[in-house]
Amino acid sequence: MAFVRVARGDDIPAGRGRLVEAGAHTLAVFNGGDGRFYAVSALCPHEDGPLADGWIEGDAVVCPWHGFDFDLATGQCRVADELSIGVFPTRVVNGIVEVDVSDQPQRC
Ligand code: FES
Repeated sequence: MAFVRVARGDDIPAGRGRLVEAGAHTLAVFNGGDGRFYAVSALCPHEDGPLADGWIEGDAVVCPWHGFDFDLATGQCRVADELSIGVFPTRVVNGIVEVDVSDQPQRC
């Protein structure tokens, strides 16, 4: 694993996301609240909507363009079975969100 620092945790409001660079990847990082953070692909696979501008609803991220939602554990779209996003491991160290981009995104 190779975790990369991407953002201060308190810079991302609970339930919201931020576009970040992590190594060669551009990702959307979300604050799920209660110390939970998630990192996913930056672009929605439906029509390339900006997922970082979306929001968290329960255990899914919602795309701001057409409302498709994606499971934060698996990346699977709950609206269209053929769509999924990459999900990357995250951790928080001393208030800094770190993302592991050493492997391929975790997918269902
Ligand atoms: S571009 Fe994301 S739901 Fe359409």
